[in-house]
Amino acid sequence: MRRPVVAGNWKMNLNGQAAVELAAAIVKGGIDGSADIVLCPPNVYLMSVVDSTRASSVGVGAQNAYFEADGAFTGETSVAMLVDCGASHVILGHSERRQLLGETDAVVNKKLHAVMASPLVPIVCVGETLAEREAGKTVEVVRRQCEGAFLGISEDQAARVVLAYEPVWAIGTGKTASPEQAQEVHLDLRNWFEKRYTSALAQGIRILYGGSVKGSNAKELLSKPDIDGALVGGASLKADEFLQIIAAAH
Ligand code: 13P
Repeated sequence: MRRPVVAGNWKMNLNGQAAVELAAAIVKGGIDGSADIVLCPPNVYLMSVVDSTRASSVGVGAQNAYFEADGAFTGETSVAMLVDCGASHVILGHSERRQLLGETDAVVNKKLHAVMASPLVPIVCVGETLAEREAGKTVEVVRRQCEGAFLGISEDQAARVVLAYEPVWAIGTGKTASPEQAQEVHLDLRNWFEKRYTSALAQGIRILYGGSVKGSNAKELLSKPDIDGALVGGASLKADEFLQIIAAAH
């Protein structure tokens, strides 16, 4: 039985006060412990959100990390710094970073290796664009992204990873992949893990769906056998909406 994960990716939204208030409202909203709940604020609010969630089981994740340990890398944040701030998780390879900031599979792989040398749980994102889906390349693209991200990653290490399938065309567009479309790709990804590692690893790894998940569609998506939770953008900025998604995961 895979433990569900519901993670909120706040992206570059909110201010300090709003971040603390949102975290407090989610903690207060009744987390019953049957799913891993993770809030991913902008890095500058990481420590205040860690403070707001301290007395709860809610985890706090960063939205990115750099692969070097320290040095002259202006504007970047190391994995050790995130750990020092109290983070428990980190998102890697989000499509916005791949598309807008030129992050390649090779960079995602370096970041994954850096995170593996820390206690953080990585949430590795993969997903195809609309053009790739329409060209029938969805499976090829997500497999290539997985091959790239997991290069040199051992089975023990991979077992710690949470994968997120986020079709780019469904992110922030209001267009959700249908539960059937998502399930099909999740199953294919699980099969990829079985071929690349073992059946035990494939059966254990949590694969989240992301892309316009809302309170109203979460239950249907999360009821699919290979969808183990959600990585939520817009709807994670509203406590009541995010709490509905958490309830659907239970
Ligand atoms: P939306 O839920 O706003 O579509 O964003 C999904 C996402 O990118 C989460 O990482």
